[in-house]
Amino acid sequence: MDFKHDVVIVGSGLAGLRAALEVTDGVNVALISKVFPTRSHSGAAQGGIGAALGNEEKDSWEWHMYDTVKGGDYLTDQDAAEVLAKDAARAVYELEHMGVPFNRTQEGKIAQRAFGGHTKNFGEGPIKRACYAADRTGRVILDTLYGEAIARSIQVFSEFHLLDLILEKGQVAGVIAYELSTGEIHTFHSRAVLLATGGFGKVFKTSSNCFANTGDGVYFAYRAGLPLEDMEFVQFHPTGIYRLGVLISEAARGEGGILLNGEHHRFMEEYAPSLKDLAPRDVVSRAVTTEMRQGRGIGGGDFVHLDLTHIGKEKLADKLSDISSFAKIYLGVDVTREPIPVTPTCHYMMGGIPTSLDGRVLDIFGDPVPGLYAAGECACVSVHGANRLGTNSLLDLVVFGRRAGKMMRRDLQELEWSDLSPSPGERVLKNIENIKNRNGGERPIAIRTSLQEIMMDDCSVYRNKKDMTDALTKIRQLEDRYETISIDYRASHFNTDLLEAIELESLLGLAETILVSAIARTESRGAHYREDYPERDDRNWLKHTLVTKTVEGPAVSYKPVSITRFEPKARTY
Ligand code: FUM
Repeated sequence: MDFKHDVVIVGSGLAGLRAALEVTDGVNVALISKVFPTRSHSGAAQGGIGAALGNEEKDSWEWHMYDTVKGGDYLTDQDAAEVLAKDAARAVYELEHMGVPFNRTQEGKIAQRAFGGHTKNFGEGPIKRACYAADRTGRVILDTLYGEAIARSIQVFSEFHLLDLILEKGQVAGVIAYELSTGEIHTFHSRAVLLATGGFGKVFKTSSNCFANTGDGVYFAYRAGLPLEDMEFVQFHPTGIYRLGVLISEAARGEGGILLNGEHHRFMEEYAPSLKDLAPRDVVSRAVTTEMRQGRGIGGGDFVHLDLTHIGKEKLADKLSDISSFAKIYLGVDVTREPIPVTPTCHYMMGGIPTSLDGRVLDIFGDPVPGLYAAGECACVSVHGANRLGTNSLLDLVVFGRRAGKMMRRDLQELEWSDLSPSPGERVLKNIENIKNRNGGERPIAIRTSLQEIMMDDCSVYRNKKDMTDALTKIRQLEDRYETISIDYRASHFNTDLLEAIELESLLGLAETILVSAIARTESRGAHYREDYPERDDRNWLKHTLVTKTVEGPAVSYKPVSITRFEPKARTY
């Protein structure tokens, strides 16, 4: 079927929903989502949204900006960090007025808790800056924004999977989407497209990400010839449930939880003497991994303990009830009496589709692609630099989602309709037919499992040239094997076999961009830690990576970092 909308927003998490709210009046908007909107991954965010409200103790947006820049190991674009920190209070009060049920202080103000890397007075010690709703902050914001979208009659296409971007003569003309319930392929003709498709943590074996996070929007932008930025920077959250990767919020440490090794020692005292367990995630994930590698995991094994037993039953039930139930359900652990076994889990992608501060997608020359926008985890503004601070993601989604929506609305005054070529979906249709009609090929699951294991083993918390180069060879072999895949279920209705086969192309392509970018960066910065280059090297590497698809393979180039206020300094916590 052919649809025609002024604006198509792909992704119904917080970035997509917040953008949509800016372009409703008089604009024909379609919101396409591969899941039902309230199942979007934003709903999995637990611990809080950062804003220097100063409700619990004195705070300032400049301190928040500084923490964001330092947390990102000075790769953060400082103009973006300034926008984020300055706009945070407005964004949080806007959510409050929409009805987000934040926890409250005694006086009825929005309650705030401590979170990793957030400090007072430019690094002096932890500060309570995360506004929260128990440990389901993303969940309640998502439900609230979805309610707003419904109230404004935004047309939602649920379980429509993005198959391709349509670009005509360098301008966006719409998207191709696959309807899961029927197997139909639809063309959405539009003047503007916003990609808000989230991250791609499913590239890794152990991940806090939902199954839908396969990076389709990011990969399709790359496949269309656009650059991707800073793909080597992959965040591992230190406290994923052992073996499963399910998130145990940093809020657990914000409320007083501590990490213990196999010697029952609070090891973060050595790695980050000032912030300890509340150091940024890259620092804590490396510390946990080092403890395990040096035989000080629990029982000498591959996990450590997160101890919440001293927090007390009442506070755990009041402020950390979701994670308490996760520990019970998945591990049989009663957090009031026993510690939780945890390991680092792939959580967040700092890299993605390069954008301006207003969500316009930028090409390799830094020029906006007419009609194309991106916001949220799929985008790289770059406000998180080499390592995102906890609570800055929810904030990024609502701040930059809103800005992208506003910019689209403004640009619509000038954006013309592009003519569509006669069959814009032909290429993807052919690919789908090939997968469905091929007999006796390899099943996608085998390739996906290998991909996730390779990336986990060779390109996660610690990296080196040899492992990553081997991994790149193996990923390319998997890409060759992908060309011969076949599936068992061939019907049209709810063909998740087919969907997973399509997603696998994105996962493989993105894994290649991560590896190529990571091999090229011969320094350690933020979440990218090279055992063979353990120092940060500002002289040579204070720059963003761009990776572009060419016929010879991914080509790497660089662009400068925006430094407006804070000169790079040694990063200690
Ligand atoms: O730990 C957490 O609650 C995660 C928050 C975030 O990624 O911002």
